Amino acid sequence: MKKPAPAYETAELRKFGEILRGRRSIELFLQTPVPRQLVHEAIEAASWAPNHHVTEPWMFHLLGRRSIDACLELVRELVTAKKDAAAADFKVKNWAAKPGWMVVSCRKSDDALLQREDHAACAAAIQNFMLYLWKAGVGSKWTTGDITRERRFFDILGLDADAADVVGLIWYGYPKLTPTQQRKTVGDILVELP
Ligand SMILES: Cc1cc2nc3c(=O)[nH]c(=O)nc-3n(C[C@H](O)[C@H](O)[C@H](O)COP(=O)(O)O)c2cc1C
Repeated sequence: MKKPAPAYETAELRKFGEILRGRRSIELFLQTPVPRQLVHEAIEAASWAPNHHVTEPWMFHLLGRRSIDACLELVRELVTAKKDAAAADFKVKNWAAKPGWMVVSCRKSDDALLQREDHAACAAAIQNFMLYLWKAGVGSKWTTGDITRERRFFDILGLDADAADVVGLIWYGYPKLTPTQQRKTVGDILVELP
């Protein structure tokens, strides 16, 4: 006989778990625009991430047409220099199809521990952002490619590279395709101590 579900296992909790498990990094997006209001709400939800000493170390940079085009130009230049024009063309074509561009930056600190904790807080905020969008049917992908450490990328964002780090460039949009993934089991990743 099937064991009864434990009392804590409500339909709401199951649904919440499905959202957490179902989110995937999306590579291919539809061109359907994502409402700006939804993105603002996702940023607001992101800002409730835990952050030690309530430093709120994050900034969200929502890119418009001009700044996206500047990033595409920059990535063309970087890939051409590193590889060749054909590789650059391929990458620019791929990146040009990403409908939404959000960058999350983290305030820099001279205090190494604070810096590490602030970075962790920004990562938690990005996860909030991505999950909020996911619940609304919007997929995303977090990237930390070469461009995110490039001085000219900071210039496009109007960011002082001595004062902030980029934690991620997040592309978002309605998914064209949602990939599947595997994860280790709880048994593989849990150490229970006495
Ligand atoms: C800090 C961070 C940086 C990432 N950078 C990249 C990246 O540069 N390129 C990429 O393809 N995916 C990147 N990803 C996405 C991961 O590859 C992805 O989360 C992983 O493959 C698991 O897939 P899932 O998100 O669908 O579960 C990054 C994820 C994190 C957390």
